[in-house]
Amino acid sequence: MIDIAFEQVVKQLVGKVDSPRLEARMVLAFVLGKDCDDIGSGVFDLTDEQSKCLEHILQKRIEGAPLDKLLGEKDFYKYRFKVSEDVLSPRPDTEILVEAAGKLIFQNKMEKVIDLGTGSGCILLSLLADFPSLSGAGVDASEKALVIAAENAKRLGIESRCRLMNLSWFDDDFVQKTGAKYDMIVSNPPYIPHSDIDALEVCVKSYDPLSALDGGEDGYDHYRKIAEVAPKILRKGGYILLEGGINQAQEIRNIFEKQGFVWFQTLKDLGGIERCIILKK
Ligand SMILES: C[S@@+](CC[C@H](N)C(=O)[O-])C[C@H]1O[C@@H](n2cnc3c(N)ncnc32)[C@H](O)[C@@H]1O
Repeated sequence: MIDIAFEQVVKQLVGKVDSPRLEARMVLAFVLGKDCDDIGSGVFDLTDEQSKCLEHILQKRIEGAPLDKLLGEKDFYKYRFKVSEDVLSPRPDTEILVEAAGKLIFQNKMEKVIDLGTGSGCILLSLLADFPSLSGAGVDASEKALVIAAENAKRLGIESRCRLMNLSWFDDDFVQKTGAKYDMIVSNPPYIPHSDIDALEVCVKSYDPLSALDGGEDGYDHYRKIAEVAPKILRKGGYILLEGGINQAQEIRNIFEKQGFVWFQTLKDLGGIERCIILKK
């Protein structure tokens, strides 16, 4: 056994991460298989294996790996999601889309929602977990991402209300395969302009899949295609909620208005960025 003091772990993280004490507690809880609440500020007995695991995680974290990818979990909205390098780590900025979707589902007594580019499933599964009578579909071109989404659906006990489909919106038979008309579409598609990818922080470009980030030359490739297929899978009067990047809201609105959608609302995230664009068919 090896003794390790909480403060020793904190010391390794100081100056390297924003919240060294919180992260030290999370890492120790993970290594010891305990809850964070059980990690005090004392000394811990670690087996050789646990000690090696701790050192590995600390080293990777100091090198810039995101904590959630190292621990395999991320809290988002009200729930905890399994994550891996096969999915985009859920971002707090996306929570406003989930909240806005929830309000519309409640007010309009919606029954069926589809998430285009579901990744970990964080948007779709949060909505299904909040609304027991809602059912939904999650579409993703990445088979590996859908494996994670399926695990998350199971963890939340909502797999019976959730259909996961390995499809691309660029597929010719996309509309046919997604099937029936939905009350709502939610989507956080890849939106980073191709030339900006290189300049992204290491914790994003090296740990999130490129296919979840790259929005093509101007960043709008996926919005243009989704705007083309969305009217065919959304019922009349249904809503589409889209996440966008910095300074993209107006162009996203233009793209969807060209396809006959009517702008409803644009919501800012906590940083004041116009993040969520809502339109109605
Ligand atoms: C920005 S991530 C969003 C993931 C998750 N919805 C979230 O908000 O955290 C975009 C997702 O779209 C998927 N994707 C990219 N191109 C796609 C396509 N042509 N058809 C379907 N899914 C696609 C990626 O695999 C990725 O999971």
